[in-house]
Amino acid sequence: MTELKDRIDRSKLPCHIAIIMDGNGRWAKERGSHRIFGHQQGVTAVKDTVEGAGELGVKYLTLYAFSKENWCRPKEEIDALMELMVSTINSETETLIKNNVRLLVIGDVQTLPLSVVEKLNEVIGITRNNSGLTLIVALSYSARWEIADAARRIAEDVLSGKIDKDSIDHEIFSDYLLTNGIPDPELLIRTSGEYRLSNFLLWQIAYTEMYFSPTYWPDFRKEHLYNAIIDFQLRERRFGKTSEQLKCD
Ligand code: FPP
Repeated sequence: MTELKDRIDRSKLPCHIAIIMDGNGRWAKERGSHRIFGHQQGVTAVKDTVEGAGELGVKYLTLYAFSKENWCRPKEEIDALMELMVSTINSETETLIKNNVRLLVIGDVQTLPLSVVEKLNEVIGITRNNSGLTLIVALSYSARWEIADAARRIAEDVLSGKIDKDSIDHEIFSDYLLTNGIPDPELLIRTSGEYRLSNFLLWQIAYTEMYFSPTYWPDFRKEHLYNAIIDFQLRERRFGKTSEQLKCD
């Protein structure tokens, strides 16, 4: 474990890691348990991953906890997930404070139950001045909704004369996204062996490196995160340039 961590070049850490936590249901099913048990076990993976990212010095970690499409799941599962969200944030508040973690949320927050919104707002407020890891939880989030919402608000600002339509470029557009002020992810991890983006941060991942892990989320631990970062550090990121051009930069 220590050896794996030591293979990470701390001077080349991805500044922002985003994770699609997937496989809770299958993990539970393979054990003859209910899907909700998989989500409960997924909390252990969340805690270990947040701790691992914070210890390394990663600045931003975004976790896809609940998509707008997930509202179609059985009510029992949705209720359990919302309860789990509140109880986890509740029980982990002290640890977030101790570890200097700042909590943020992205998503269509208005659609969440009031108990969840109140708990989130409370902990976002308590941790707002923390300067270590920023933990961003994507809740009731969908990238297409986020992009359409940004377009609508830009249109409003053009109509009211606040901005000039000709000034709209990708930087201005980014300012209208929920991730305004947060650097784009450099590394995106998806667990459970699925190779999809599932409506997650579609604008922000234009140049993000992808890492797909076969591990189901409840089994994901710091060492899996370390492996993803080591793999990331072995890659050459060209951003549309040639390999030779990068050497001259
Ligand atoms: C995906 O597995 C996982 C989710 C939709 C929920 C993830 C939520 C948690 C781990 C709860 C706690 C989170 C925080 C941030 C406090 P799936 O159900 O889609 O699995 P499947 O594809 O195997 O069915």
